Amino acid sequence: MKRVFSGVQPTGNIHIGNYLGALRQFVELQNENDCIYCIVDMHSITVPQDPRELRKHTLDVAALYMAIGVDPKKATVFVQSDVPGHAELSWVLTCSSYTGELSRMTQFKDKSKGKESAPTGLFSYPVLMAADILLYDSNVVPVGNDQKQHIELCRDLAIRVNNKYGETFVIPEGRFLKEGARIMALDDPASKMSKSAENPLSRISLLDDESKIKKSIMKSTTDSEGTIRFDIANKPGVSNLINIYSSFSGMSVEEIEKKYDGCGYGEFKKDLVQVTSESLKPIRERFEDIRNSDELIRILKDGAEKANAISEKTMARVKDRFGLGIGK
Ligand code: TYM
Repeated sequence: MKRVFSGVQPTGNIHIGNYLGALRQFVELQNENDCIYCIVDMHSITVPQDPRELRKHTLDVAALYMAIGVDPKKATVFVQSDVPGHAELSWVLTCSSYTGELSRMTQFKDKSKGKESAPTGLFSYPVLMAADILLYDSNVVPVGNDQKQHIELCRDLAIRVNNKYGETFVIPEGRFLKEGARIMALDDPASKMSKSAENPLSRISLLDDESKIKKSIMKSTTDSEGTIRFDIANKPGVSNLINIYSSFSGMSVEEIEKKYDGCGYGEFKKDLVQVTSESLKPIRERFEDIRNSDELIRILKDGAEKANAISEKTMARVKDRFGLGIGK
């Protein structure tokens, strides 16, 4: 049985990019693997957060995990800051990382672009992410394609420590969906769909109602050619919509192109609204019940306890290898 680990930041507006790129895999993987799913609140404070909103979003993401089908009887679900090992291991890994490799991370470059000085937490974000993964001896990490570079860094750090201090960490593998699984912004298909983009119509959040879904899709950017054809280079907007259609309906790109041969964008978009709404409706319905139940806190406390037990074992091994503390 493989150990699977992944996390989502509680920054609100969890969207269909997060779902199709990562969250949906969480459910598929839980039946045959030992899965640990985390709400990574310490990653969220790499940018300013309102404390009350942060806690609300943390519980929202936990409820969303369950609403999409994560089963706490099968998978461990917990909040990152409830397990001290994440911060502890992050420091140890910081001391094995280099400013050069962290400066090359595209996410850091994007987020610090044009600024003379950037928050240190933003810079070391990928080290904390590596700690999350390595703390649990994870074999598989389901994430969206935008996280490839971070997974590569995590592997590099693990290999570096193993080479220097002896076998300490399991080397994890990323689990990415096919290249097209990156969902782009609906108003600008050159940027990825994001939780923080100013225009709410640029994304479809998992809890959006049908009228918001309709508005976002009907207003989405396409092109003037007027044919439903998958061609990322020349038709990025339409290709993104085909991708979303395919991911929700299970139809292949070819089947979609065939079905809409000769049709205009209006008709295609109308159907996409329906396909998307039908897929998200059950999630929205389950979410409220779970979010308002006392059960949620109990699940997160149980999860933190289980995660902590694994984390303590790894930290004892790490401290031993590095000669930290007074030993046994
Ligand atoms: P976050 O919360 O920004 O994103 C959560 C997941 O959604 C994926 N994703 C996308 N996939 C497809 N299209 C998009 N437009 C899109 N936007 C986001 C992300 O790849 C991610 O899988 N750094 C992580 C959080 C994290 C983590 C970890 C993940 C912290 N520690 C350890 C795995 C293991 C992140 O990007 O979260």
